Amino acid sequence: MKRIPSITIWIICCITIIGIGCGDEGSLPINQGSETEVDIFPERDWKVIQGLSPLPATPPPNPTNRVSDSPDAARLGQMFFFDERLSKDGTVACATCHSPFHGFADVEATSLGGGRGTRNAPTLLNVAYNKWQFWDGRADSLWSQALIALEGEKEQAGTRLQYAHLIKRLYQKDYETVFGPLPNLADTTRFPLTGKPGDVAFDNMSDKDKIAVNTVFANIGKAIEAYERLLISRNAPFDQYVAGDLDVISSGAKRGLEIFIGKGQCTLCHNSPNFTDNDFHNVGVPQGRLPEDTGRYDGIKQLLENPFNGGGIYSDDPETPQRILDLLEPTQQLKGRFKTPTLRNIALTAPYFHTGGYPTLVSILRFNGSEIPTTEYAGVRDDTRQPLRLNEQEVNDLEEFLLTLTGELPPEHLLRKPDLP
Ligand code: HEC
Ligand code: HEC
Repeated sequence: MKRIPSITIWIICCITIIGIGCGDEGSLPINQGSETEVDIFPERDWKVIQGLSPLPATPPPNPTNRVSDSPDAARLGQMFFFDERLSKDGTVACATCHSPFHGFADVEATSLGGGRGTRNAPTLLNVAYNKWQFWDGRADSLWSQALIALEGEKEQAGTRLQYAHLIKRLYQKDYETVFGPLPNLADTTRFPLTGKPGDVAFDNMSDKDKIAVNTVFANIGKAIEAYERLLISRNAPFDQYVAGDLDVISSGAKRGLEIFIGKGQCTLCHNSPNFTDNDFHNVGVPQGRLPEDTGRYDGIKQLLENPFNGGGIYSDDPETPQRILDLLEPTQQLKGRFKTPTLRNIALTAPYFHTGGYPTLVSILRFNGSEIPTTEYAGVRDDTRQPLRLNEQEVNDLEEFLLTLTGELPPEHLLRKPDLP
């Protein structure tokens, strides 16, 4: 096994120190005229590559959910994730569309739950590293994302009152271990068996009772988030390569990596250890037969209106998230922008793009930089790169590189449906 020569690392360190201007340039014995290389990459490219690996040891903390790192909450959240009874008709769970055997994504282009959706289900591997959830970022936390799925007509399609009664019936003990006492829901004139905002049954409840039910609902999401935060996948061949095992990826993959950080300009957007800038871009993906989709533009509106956003009363730390929300505005430029998705485990999660309209990686790579009629997507394309015109060899190399991003799956016990009460 070939390791990076220690002299190379030493030289990179010196250059880095000079680069950031805190070294005494005159005293470092280094020939600035010569270009050092790591494997096939000049050291300035190698630095870019090091910006893509490894994933930070833990996902960023989420203070809006005080149980986000509680093992008891995660155990409960895993049960909720796989429990089909958390749906209108008892047949759909999160795992229905986010299958552990398909990288926690969906094999179908657009998912089927309570109805047929209009977007592709993304992977949940490493999802806790995302700043925003959904293609349009209309959720600013994993817990509030889960609530949208639980009541969404096209997803689980149930109601928060139904879920609160279900928790009382089946999960009281486990719930109370994590969150403290459930409200007494026995009086069904005060707490009808089903209903959500917009339904008479819910809308007629007192404000105090609504808040009690909303709190149970929010806590279901908070338990699910604790589970999702454990769905981490690291140590892909690419990570092993960056860590110094220079033979672990093929020379084709290395050429693909060279295109990825160079000619392809992929790192303009896919530029962190989770291969995303956590931002939104309009790359002109055609809607095909799907209805118009304004992406981030409507996403911001929905986020600001959502009582379960990070600045709301169900958040365990509203102040900082509210400051971020205050800066958001649904401006015209945001039309047709979608979140830059992670590329980790991309080999597991076909089909691709928010439409699910691209079945293979090669089909995506051919799309990149091609001309798309502006009638095919909302808004104005903000991807200003010149058409890439990759030849077959380059497409194959890029694909080979993307295939090196498949990491280890989370521990086996997290991939299984647990025993349910
Ligand atoms: C009917 C299929 C379906 C079900 C059921 C479902 N999802 Fe999803 N999920 C999707 C689709 C489709 C998207 C993308 C939708 C969008 O962006 O508007 C998505 C997006 C997400 C995201 C955002 C990921 C990202 O990178 O932006 C998370 C997290 C998620 N789902 C978790 C869950 C959880 C937790 C549940 C259960 C409470 C759940 N989903 C239930 C289909 C489903
Ligand atoms: C301008 C920012 C930007 C650049 C540059 C960019 N991407 Fe993306 N990429 C995105 C966005 C945004 C999406 C999601 C688009 C959508 O679905 O509407 C995406 C989607 C993808 C997907 C599909 C992921 C999935 O889960 O569906 C792949 C694969 C991909 N990009 C690879 C690349 C490669 C390889 C390059 C370089 C040749 C590249 N991208 C350059 C922003 C960018």
